Amino acid sequence: MAELLATAFSLSWPVLALLAGLIVYFQVAIKDSEKKRRASFKTFIGMLAAVMAFIAIANYKINFFGESRLLPVSLAMITALSFMMALYFYKVSALFKIGGTMFLVAAALSGYGNWLPQVEGGFPPPEVKLDFGSMSAQQLADEGEKIIFGGIGQSKVQGAIGKGQCPLCHGFNEGFLSERAPNLFGIPDRAKKQLEDPRYHKGKPGERDTVQKESFPGAGTAESGQEYISESHACPSCYVVAGFGVKGTNDKESPMPSIHKPPISLTLGELAAVDTWLYIREGKEAPPYEEIIKAYEKFIPEADRPKPQEDKPAAGGGGLLADGSEPVDQIFAKAQCVVCHTIPGIPGAMGTVGPKLVEKTNAPTRLKDQAYKGGAKTVREYITESVISPGTYVVKPFPDNVMPKVFGQKLSAGALNKIVDYLSQLEEGKAPPKI
Ligand code: HEC
Ligand code: HEC
Repeated sequence: MAELLATAFSLSWPVLALLAGLIVYFQVAIKDSEKKRRASFKTFIGMLAAVMAFIAIANYKINFFGESRLLPVSLAMITALSFMMALYFYKVSALFKIGGTMFLVAAALSGYGNWLPQVEGGFPPPEVKLDFGSMSAQQLADEGEKIIFGGIGQSKVQGAIGKGQCPLCHGFNEGFLSERAPNLFGIPDRAKKQLEDPRYHKGKPGERDTVQKESFPGAGTAESGQEYISESHACPSCYVVAGFGVKGTNDKESPMPSIHKPPISLTLGELAAVDTWLYIREGKEAPPYEEIIKAYEKFIPEADRPKPQEDKPAAGGGGLLADGSEPVDQIFAKAQCVVCHTIPGIPGAMGTVGPKLVEKTNAPTRLKDQAYKGGAKTVREYITESVISPGTYVVKPFPDNVMPKVFGQKLSAGALNKIVDYLSQLEEGKAPPKI
């Protein structure tokens, strides 16, 4: 981005040099007084044009960072300028016309890119129809790893996260301390043991001591390890692992979202892929695909099962957490910012893992900090940088590497823009803006 800014500025010098040249030419070369008057007039037009060119370039600079739709306006302005110049400076009009035409093409291209709605929503990769049912266990596990961590091999990368969002809360590596949710290493074996816990009330769904006693009336309870895992995903509050319940509920309510419901909305096939990975990566044999699907059908009624991707319009697909078409409160919820941050005006955003996001108050303080080494100059730039590159400046006393570093890829430009718009208005002690 910095290079592009530099280009925008260097662009202004040839324009200015050309104008200066023209002015000198007309002043020196033309003696006749009638012609001199016309030359002064042209000097005036030339200077006006120089000012407009500066405005156009400044507008370009500002809107480039804002990812705004006003970006092509600058290019259109320069196009108009070039043709206007061609009218007045007829001796070099061919030059101006060529320049103008080039800018017109650039304006048309960037206008096209900026105004098309599907581009505004980010760049979802082409939807590939996945036939989970016909995959080998290893292929299914690979898909599972992609859903949990965002790509094959990503489970070894610190901070990697996919649309399943599990690593936001769960640790996955053996021996790794996982405070917010149980470490999922060992879950294939542990799942069966959980059924023996008296708190599970095997066989008596109506009698469970939790806020939600069964995933839906008549859902029954788990009878195998796989069914326990399926039930954990479909109905986290049916049974809450001791010590991990929502604070103050005495382990009667789970903070884990139902994975088949929005915003995560994994299909049964995707859930089967996730589970297959949980077995295969520990070298365990996973239950056959059909058996996993059956386990989910036991806990998720037909009407609640998300339709596979190809039946849905592009929105929300492509592995983006938010595509920018949602209102800002939903973007914060979908991207799980609410889990870690308190955000005034956003329902449910009471997290304390990271700072309270009153950025109109915070950002100027951060930018003034001696320890700040980032490239941001304004509040908006600071917020953008904090979201897409949290390691650039780590707010004290919070540790580094807690905030996921994937939002740059997982949020569309439109979604990021809405986040920045909202957070930049939040001020300590002032009422938040209406959504
Ligand atoms: C917002 C945090 C959060 C997210 C996101 C989340 N979980 Fe959980 N999960 C929890 C918590 C807390 C528990 C323990 C309480 C309970 O039993 O519900 C839990 C429990 C579980 C259990 C039962 C664990 C056991 O030891 O019995 C499984 C299995 C599980 N989660 C899998 C997943 C998977 C797979 C994903 C991603 C698709 C996921 N979770 C996403 C918070 C989360
Ligand atoms: C897993 C927890 C977690 C999640 C999820 C998370 N953050 Fe953060 N965030 C943190 C922590 C911890 C810090 C402070 C350390 C640092 O600066 O990296 C932070 C810092 C920030 C800051 C800098 C705040 C300041 O006052 O200087 C911003 C802005 C921010 N986060 C925005 C977001 C947004 C927007 C999202 C969702 C797209 C998000 N965060 C998701 C944990 C999280």
